[in-house]
Amino acid sequence: RPLQIYGARKNSAGFEFGHRESLAQLVNELSAARFDIAAVPLVPGVAPAGEVQPVLSPADRSRRIGTVVNATAADVDKAFVAARKGFAAWSREPVETRAACLERMAELLEADRIRFVALLSAEAGKTLDDGIAEVREAIDFCRYYAGEARRLFAEAEAMPGPTGEDNRLFWRGRGVFACISPWNFPLAIFLGQVSAALVAGNAVLAKPAPQTPLVAYEAVRLFHRAGVPADVLCLLPGAGEVGAAIAAHSKLGGLAFTGSTATAQAINRSLAAKNGPIVPLIAETGGINAMIVDATALGEQVADDVVMSAFRSAGQRCSALRILYLQEDIADGMLEMIEGAARELTLGDPARITTDVGPVIDEKQQAMLTGHIEDMRKSQKVRYAGTVPNTGVFVAPHIIELDRPEALTKEVFGPVLHVVRWKAKDLPKVVEVIAATGYGLTLGVHSRIEATVRTVAETLDAGNVYVNRNMIGAVVGTQPFGGSGLSGTGFKAGGPAYLMRFAQEQVVSVNT
Ligand code: SER
Repeated sequence: RPLQIYGARKNSAGFEFGHRESLAQLVNELSAARFDIAAVPLVPGVAPAGEVQPVLSPADRSRRIGTVVNATAADVDKAFVAARKGFAAWSREPVETRAACLERMAELLEADRIRFVALLSAEAGKTLDDGIAEVREAIDFCRYYAGEARRLFAEAEAMPGPTGEDNRLFWRGRGVFACISPWNFPLAIFLGQVSAALVAGNAVLAKPAPQTPLVAYEAVRLFHRAGVPADVLCLLPGAGEVGAAIAAHSKLGGLAFTGSTATAQAINRSLAAKNGPIVPLIAETGGINAMIVDATALGEQVADDVVMSAFRSAGQRCSALRILYLQEDIADGMLEMIEGAARELTLGDPARITTDVGPVIDEKQQAMLTGHIEDMRKSQKVRYAGTVPNTGVFVAPHIIELDRPEALTKEVFGPVLHVVRWKAKDLPKVVEVIAATGYGLTLGVHSRIEATVRTVAETLDAGNVYVNRNMIGAVVGTQPFGGSGLSGTGFKAGGPAYLMRFAQEQVVSVNT
């Protein structure tokens, strides 16, 4: 695994690292890091013309990390013209050339890893262990998809047929592919989408989340250094209007989106409303992710896994635990342990080694979360509320006990854990209620009864089921990640089928 030298691992005493030298270097550079990045649209022939906006750190709103100039609708048009041209040449390159670019990108990222961890901390409020894990995941995506492209696309597949006829199946890029990515993994998900689309033979228009344009800008510049031509990978920073203009464009060949279910549905409608080519959507959204814990579970393990799944990354993961179903018989004891573990979490400056929970991304998310907590207070029981630092946009971890699971009606993207009790005889009802949400991303099960684990996993449509462990941090190539229903379209990122969604087949039949 790349970046294994850090071997970052959480334990009750803080963090453990494999190599103290690397850790010392990382911490020094993090505290010294000052950025002044000017991110602009990266489209050949486009001079930055929009308004210059500051990018401020979520951990300290007085800290400016750089500036961004958002793309305009005219820039989107120019990007399509450039990318169509780029596609014509790129799609004809041998798979090996494209795979080698991804591998060079992985090397460049590895060489620059500390700067990227620092930038993730400054721009996205990532803690040290989250930043390391994210850079590692981004590198993994590049290397994994390079290998997958060779496996899937390098050779045309000879199909069986009659004597005197040669039938071959080729995989080719789809054209200009849009990659619209979220702020919660501004490097890993951004690069995961972009590297998959590129290696499958597409030209890419990448639109990062408006909150995190700087990481994206630095990543695209690195990709250009790795050998991807400027007209094959264009960056279009901006808000929803830029994404909407890309989705509505007549020359779009495909679109990968990770973010909210509502936005994925809006994009889907926009793609469907267009005249012209029928464009595939690859969407990965969120979920009201549940964990079911029965009376046979190991208490300490559950407490550790619940706190990790609900509060790590300030709960800003699409995989994060949102609603915990505790069997009545063990609920009081379990809640005491979980609250005790939550109380141990340190909130604060994400660049400090002792910090467990950093800020949320911005004021809008903060207001949504505090509004939700206040709403819940009116009818449900807030069992635990942590305290927040004075600077930055923080939301403290909260544990809210619900009198019924239906009291939670939406995905709450942050450090808020909801808990419901269930009686042993009611397990089928618990499963029914989880299925009724329509989401299907992650599911946790803590039980030592094999039949329970099997039934729950088989009955529910969750894309990733985690048994007797935490339910976040899917590893590329090991836990292909993604859901179904309201949670996304599949195929899974970091899995063996993902690249095929970015490509199209062509069969050439020759009468020999
Ligand atoms: N892939 C991330 C995880 O598994 C979620 O976005 O936690």
